[in-house]
Amino acid sequence: MVAVARGIGALEGDLFDEIASLKKQLNAVVLAHYYQDPDIQDIADFIGDSLQLAQEAAKTSADVIVFCGVHFMAETAKILNPTKQVLVPDLKAGCSLADGCPAPAFQRFKDKYPGHFVVSYVNCSAAVKAISDVIVTSSNAKKIVARIPADRPIIFAPDQHLGRYVMKETGRDMVLWPGSCQVHELFSLKKLVQLESRHPDALVIAHPECEAPVLERAHHIGSTRSLLDFAVSSSAKTFIVATEPGIMHQMEKKTEGSGKVFIAAPPDSACACNECPHMKLNTLEKVYLAMRTRQPEITVDPEISKKALVPIQRMLEWS
Ligand code: 13P
Ligand code: SF4
Repeated sequence: MVAVARGIGALEGDLFDEIASLKKQLNAVVLAHYYQDPDIQDIADFIGDSLQLAQEAAKTSADVIVFCGVHFMAETAKILNPTKQVLVPDLKAGCSLADGCPAPAFQRFKDKYPGHFVVSYVNCSAAVKAISDVIVTSSNAKKIVARIPADRPIIFAPDQHLGRYVMKETGRDMVLWPGSCQVHELFSLKKLVQLESRHPDALVIAHPECEAPVLERAHHIGSTRSLLDFAVSSSAKTFIVATEPGIMHQMEKKTEGSGKVFIAAPPDSACACNECPHMKLNTLEKVYLAMRTRQPEITVDPEISKKALVPIQRMLEWS
């Protein structure tokens, strides 16, 4: 490991070239989420929100998928490609939503509501997906919930804020698992209002994992991809961005020269806790190492994988 680390030190400036040549050697595709460090986004073959990344994983012809995001996203890619190798830069990159909804506790929760249709946000483990009826992401949750027969009661897990937003938008009542995202629940309403008063022409754009009072101030609510598209196509010049600031790299790149300004919505304290600590565990060096050593690798129990594939495929069909 030390030798490898020393090797990296000598490589520094060549990491981009080394990763490019490893991609060819392994016939690998690098998929990255919008919350990844700019360097990782810049070497990725494809950048997207959770739905787009799952769709891309489902159709890739690469032999190796290098997934730069968090564990549940890479796990979804593996479930869709059980025979391919799925590498991640850091196996410890989790998610507070997935970690806060263990499958045995979720099964007990489900047992209290017999006959309910179980809708699980993609931010959950493969074991939770395996006991769900359909998976949703922030970009298709409204559409998918609206398709469920009106007389069928629904459980929605694990994000209560996304769940409440979907309830409001679709008019469907749902039983909510009480989970939340440690990043999105920390945006300060008070500081957001103060920021808006300093930038009266700014539009607030927010991810639906934010709490309801923050969402109420938003001019546009959507997945990371939807926020990006809105920022690019809007005629406004200033945007207050209420989601993980990694997305601002693509916003700035895609609007270069337009004079558009993106301001990160402030968290409750002076910390950098609007940055996802899990997403930020990944670094360019770790991407390189994962490709060079072909580890760490995502594995999913074959039985769980088979069961989890059913609601994931239903999501892809219904999207
Ligand atoms: P998106 O699907 O909108 O990219 O969201 C993923 C996520 O983890 C948001 O915190
Ligand atoms: Fe999970 Fe929140 Fe990080 Fe998204 S931002 S991966 S929901 S902890």
